[in-house]
Formats: sequence, structure tokens, C-alpha cells
Amino acid sequence: MIQRARQTVAIHFFRNVTRSWFVVTYLGQLFFAYYILMLYWKSTALGHFEKWNSVNPHFYAKGDIVGNLFFGLHVAVAAVVTILGPLQLVTKIRKKAPRFHRVSGRVYIYSAFLISLGGLYLTWVRGAVGGPFMQVIISINALIILVCAFYSIKYAIKRKINLHNQWAVHLLLAMSGVWLFRVFFMLWMVIHRAPVGFDPETFTGPFLSALSVFVYILPQGVVALYFKAKFSGSPYRKWGFSVMLLIITLAIAVGTFGAVGGMWLPRI
Ligand code: HEM
Repeated sequence: MIQRARQTVAIHFFRNVTRSWFVVTYLGQLFFAYYILMLYWKSTALGHFEKWNSVNPHFYAKGDIVGNLFFGLHVAVAAVVTILGPLQLVTKIRKKAPRFHRVSGRVYIYSAFLISLGGLYLTWVRGAVGGPFMQVIISINALIILVCAFYSIKYAIKRKINLHNQWAVHLLLAMSGVWLFRVFFMLWMVIHRAPVGFDPETFTGPFLSALSVFVYILPQGVVALYFKAKFSGSPYRKWGFSVMLLIITLAIAVGTFGAVGGMWLPRI
């Protein structure tokens, strides 16, 4: 009896924390999408390409048609995936509007291929900010995206829905790496109020190397723990995971607040 009550409380707590994480994350991603639309989509539509350089002077390079095209496509797709991605996980939408889920899912998966392959071009051919270590780690993130996108669609076609769901959650977290990077970077800045652990000129340093691993690779482990806790009969496993996710959610909330006020709104 007591065992069952414990189990019920753990299930409720687990569900509520997961939902809170989802709401905070989606809101944060919508702010990011708003920034992309207002900065990149708007300036592109108006033909003001130099505005891309308000973030970094090498985003728009006169004469580099291919490089500019890749960057333009990259940020165009970035807004679409950031808005559509989390919606794919909403059960109500999947049940009430399965057609939307299928169409938007296809757009999302093909965009995932596009954004990661385009990102690899930007990283290795055009040259990205940060040092070689960060470039390798974000490239591993691109590979994770490609693998997760492949298996998500494969199992959707085979109607192996449980496997499809699991790969889709792994994919969403891999696709969120770039957003998580900005959020946790701004959390660090909110805490320290100064560039600690990295050189702001070269954008390299131990903090940024650790952050890259933390946001581009580690979330895959968190997803694995999530499914372990979800399918486990042990209330302790659910409690343990929920407390960890609650702390992560609070950190994301503060980081998003910092990113909106200190990074995205001032650039628009
Ligand atoms: C869903 C995933 C992704 C989103 C939403 C995204 C979004 C963005 C955005 C908005 C920018 C413009 C910079 C800014 O205004 O902050 C950007 C630039 C860039 N992205 Fe992505 N991106 C994604 C995935 C990737 C991946 C997987 C790679 C690498 C393999 C990558 C490599 C780059 C590079 C190299 C730049 C130029 C900035 C720099 O020099 O670092 N992106 N991305």
C-alpha cells in the first residue's frame, strides 16, 4: 500500500517536472526563434545583408556568394526547426492532429539534415568562431543530429512508434544544443558578470570547451536517463531524475532570461 502511494507520488512529480522543463524550454526556444526572425529573416527580406554582421563581422562577406548562401539558408532553417521541433513531442497534437504531426515531422527531419550538413560547411569551410576543440565538438553534435534524424524517420516509416519516440527525443535535444549553448553561456555571464574562463577576443578557453561538451553531447545521456526513469518501476529512480531535471530547468530559466535581455533583444 505504502509502496504504491510512493510510486504514485513519484509518477506525478516526474510528470510535472518533465512538463515544466518542456514549457520553460519551448518558451526559451520561441524567444530564440523570434530573435532569428527579427534579425536574419527581416534583414534578408529587406536586402540589408550587412545587418547579419551586427553579431559577427564574418557572417556576411561581400563576394562570397556560396558562403553567404549557406549562412542565409542555415538561419532560415534555424527559425523553422526551433518553432516546429518541440511541438512534435506534444501528445495532444499527435493524437488530435496526426496529419500536422506527419507533415511537420517530415519538414523537421529534412531540415535537421540540411542544418547539420550546412553547419558542417560553415564550421570547416567558411570558418567558425571559437577554437578547433569547439569545432570538433559541434561537428559531433551534427553527426548525432544526422543519426537521430535517420532513425526517427526509419522507425516512423516502420510504425515502430516506441522506438520512433525515443529517437525523436534524442533528436530534439541534439537540435537544441545550439540554443542550450547560448542559454548556459548567458547563465555563466549572469553569475560572473565578466568573461571568466575564456578569452572574449578569440572566444576560446576552458569554460567554452567544457560548455560545448555539456550542451552538445551530455544531453544525450540525460535523455537516456529520462527513459530509464520513465520505464523504471522504482520511485527512487523517478525522484532522482526529477530533482536533477528540476535543477536543470531552473538553470535554463535563468539563462534564458539572461539571453533574452543580454543577447537577443539588444541585437534586433
Ligand atoms: C537546430 C540546430 C541549429 C540551429 C537552430 C542553429 C542556429 C544558428 C544561428 C541562429 C546562427 C547565427 C548566429 C547567431 O545569431 O547566434 C548560427 C550560426 C552558425 N551555426 Fe548554427 N544552428 C544549428 C546547428 C548547427 C550545427 C549542427 C552546426 C555545426 C556543425 C552549426 C554551425 C554554425 C556556424 C559555424 C555558424 C556561424 C557562427 C560561427 O561562426 O560560429 N549550426 N546557427
